Amino acid sequence: MADWNPELYARFADERARPVHDLLARVPLASPERIVDLGCGAGASTAPLLARWPGAQVLGIDTSPAMIAEAQAKVPGARYEIADGATWTPDAPVDLVFSNATLQWIPDHPTLLPRLMGWLKPGGVLAVQIPDNLDEPSHASMRAVAAEAPFPDALKDAAGARTKLLSYEATWDVLAPTRAPSTCGGRPMSTRSWGPRRSSRWCVRPA
Ligand SMILES: C[S@@+](CC[C@H](N)C(=O)[O-])C[C@H]1O[C@@H](n2cnc3c(N)ncnc32)[C@H](O)[C@@H]1O
Repeated sequence: MADWNPELYARFADERARPVHDLLARVPLASPERIVDLGCGAGASTAPLLARWPGAQVLGIDTSPAMIAEAQAKVPGARYEIADGATWTPDAPVDLVFSNATLQWIPDHPTLLPRLMGWLKPGGVLAVQIPDNLDEPSHASMRAVAAEAPFPDALKDAAGARTKLLSYEATWDVLAPTRAPSTCGGRPMSTRSWGPRRSSRWCVRPA
């Protein structure tokens, strides 16, 4: 896949920031020391983490060199690494793994989600927002246009780039062996709280 374009991504920065703040507001931690922003992009999710917990060590990881370079320039209070969340692991357990709008790009959630829980200290929190919008009219229209000449050749791999998401029930079953009996929201959350986009937002603690 071509690298991300931070300038293009910033065009709808306000709209994109809403789920970050929504998710962040649900994280029940007073003073986490170590935080990983998985898929930090250009720092739009990293900056609010630093603002809420200025004393924390925040590490942003992302596979995109362009997005990491932008984050380093725009949000210098964190550390950054170019790294793949599918294979990377922190060098020591962390208090919070935060991930906004990234896990839809990482395959095999039955393996991935327990791995992410394994990054946490006891009492830590995994907080995740995953867009679930492939069936929305915007995406259906994109697929229809991509199927028309002259695009099919250039875009033939695009449809497979996004990971098939687990249902809420399957997510909870996958996490059951690793999570505490109660979750931050009491249950997985499905929201339509902004525009027509659906997303899965939840946070869980390890047992
Ligand atoms: C939609 S952006 C979200 C960025 C940021 N979290 C935000 O809220 O603005 C998704 C980011 O996930 C990154 N990404 C995709 N696959 C990844 C992977 N396997 N490991 C780490 N980052 C990944 C992309 O490079 C991109 O910067």
